[in-house]
Amino acid sequence: MKNDRQPAEPFRIKSIEPISLLNREEREKKLIEANYNIFKLDAADVYIDLLTDSGTGAMSAQQWSALMRGDESYAGASSFRKFEKTVQEIFRKRYVVPCHQGRSAEHMMFSTVVKKGSYIINNTHFDTTRANTIHAGGIPVDLPCPESDSSEPLPFKGNMDVVRLEQFVHKHGIEKIAMVMMTVTNNSIGGQPVSMSNIHEVYQICKRNSIPFFYDSARFAENCYFIKRDEPGYGDKSIREIAAEMFDACDGVLMSAKKDGLANIGGLIALSNEELYRRIADLMIIVEGFPTYGGLAGRDLEVLATGLEEVMNFDYLDFRVKQVAYLGRQIKQAGMPIVEPTGGHAVFVDAGLLLPHIPPDQFPGLALTVEFYREGGVRVVEMGSLMFGGIDPFTGEKSLARHELLRLALPRRVYTNSHYDYVAESAKRIVANKNSLAGYKIVRQPPLLRHFTCDLAPLKPEKVKEKQKQ
Ligand SMILES: Cc1ncc(COP(=O)(O)O)c(C=O)c1O
Repeated sequence: MKNDRQPAEPFRIKSIEPISLLNREEREKKLIEANYNIFKLDAADVYIDLLTDSGTGAMSAQQWSALMRGDESYAGASSFRKFEKTVQEIFRKRYVVPCHQGRSAEHMMFSTVVKKGSYIINNTHFDTTRANTIHAGGIPVDLPCPESDSSEPLPFKGNMDVVRLEQFVHKHGIEKIAMVMMTVTNNSIGGQPVSMSNIHEVYQICKRNSIPFFYDSARFAENCYFIKRDEPGYGDKSIREIAAEMFDACDGVLMSAKKDGLANIGGLIALSNEELYRRIADLMIIVEGFPTYGGLAGRDLEVLATGLEEVMNFDYLDFRVKQVAYLGRQIKQAGMPIVEPTGGHAVFVDAGLLLPHIPPDQFPGLALTVEFYREGGVRVVEMGSLMFGGIDPFTGEKSLARHELLRLALPRRVYTNSHYDYVAESAKRIVANKNSLAGYKIVRQPPLLRHFTCDLAPLKPEKVKEKQKQ
C-alpha cells in the first residue's frame, strides 16, 4: 500500500466556524491573565487550537443526522442497542458499558479491579490512566520498548518491552498485578503505534500467567492503519480485519471515544468477563447513571455508533496520517527537532533538545507552548515534566519526565494544510528567537494532574544566562 503522495481531504466542507487572531499585545495580556497556563485561555482567544485531538473533531453529515435519531429513554434505548451492536462487532466483546469519556471508564475499571498496592502495567500510561491507577490505590508501571528512546525513525516505537514484562511478572508475582494495558497508539511517547506481533507476544504472556490484558484504545483505528502500512503480512487486510485480530487478542477494552470515536464526547468499556461486567455496571448506577446510557445522551450513542464505523475508512485514515506527517515536515523545516516518525494524531517537538539552556525542572516544553501562543495565537500543550513530573507519590522525591516534549495535536477533519502552514511559520519565528526564551516556575498546583490547573510564572532571563555560562 505504499503511496507517499499527500492526498487532499477526502471530504467537502459543509459548515464553517469563524476564527480570528488577537493582536500581540492582547495575546500577551491573555497569557498573564491565564498565569501562563494555556488550559486557562478562552478558546475564543485562540487562533489555531492544537491543544488536543480529544473531542475536538468535526462530525460528518451522517453523524449530524444520527443525532436526530437519538432515543432518550432512560433504560434500554434503541440508541444504546445500536451502539452496543457496533461496539460488539468492532471490539468483539459481549459486554458493553458506555461511559461519558475515557477517564470515567478508567475510574470505573480501576476502582473495581485495583487492590491497594497492586500494579497496572502499561506500554506507557497516559496522564489520566496514571492518575486513576494511583487514585484507586494502585501503582502504575511503564514498560516502553527500548526503541522508544531512539532518535531513529523506527516503525513501532509504541511497543511494550516484553523482556521486562516477563521479568516484572516473575519478580512480583501475578497476584500483585491487576492488569496489563496496551495503549494504542502510545500517546505519551509521541503517538507511536504498537505492532500486531508485540500485541500477540504480550497477550500470550498475560494468558500464560492469567493476568487480564486490556487496551487503552483511544486511537485504535490509527494504530491499525500503521499495522497495515508497516507490518509485513497486513498490507492486503482491511482496517476492520486488523482491528478484529487486535481485539480478539485481549480480555477487554477501555476507550476514550473522543478520539477514534470521531465524537465530541463519549467513552466505553467492552469486556468478556460477565462477573467483572456486573461489578462495573453496579458501580456505574451509583456514580454515572443507568448502564445503557452511562452518563451520555441517547443522541451521543447514535453519533458514536456512526463515528466508530466511519473512523475505519481507509481514505480517511490515509489522509489523516499523511496530514500529521505534513505538519511534522513543516515543523522540522522550521528548525524544531521532532519525534520521528510522526505518529497518528500529533507532532511532538523535542523541546529539551531545542532549548538545552532551560533545565527540565524549568519546563522547556512550557516555554515553547507559551511562545506558540505569544507568537501566533496557536495553542499547543506541554508533555514533559510539567505534565508527567512532580512529587512521586510513592518515594516522595521530585520526578521528571523521560522527555521534554511539546505536542501539536491535530483535531480530526477540522484544519486544512494552510492552517498548518501558518503554524509552521510561527514555529520558524520562535526558532529564530530561541536563545532568548526562559523557563517557568510553578506558583500553585493541585496534587494530581497539575498541568490542567496550576499557575505558573516566568523566570527571569538572567537565570538563563547563568545556566548557559555553567
Ligand atoms: C491514550 C489516552 N487514554 C485516555 C485518555 C483520557 O480520555 P478522556 O480525555 O476522554 O477522559 C486520553 C485522552 O487524551 C488518551 O489519549
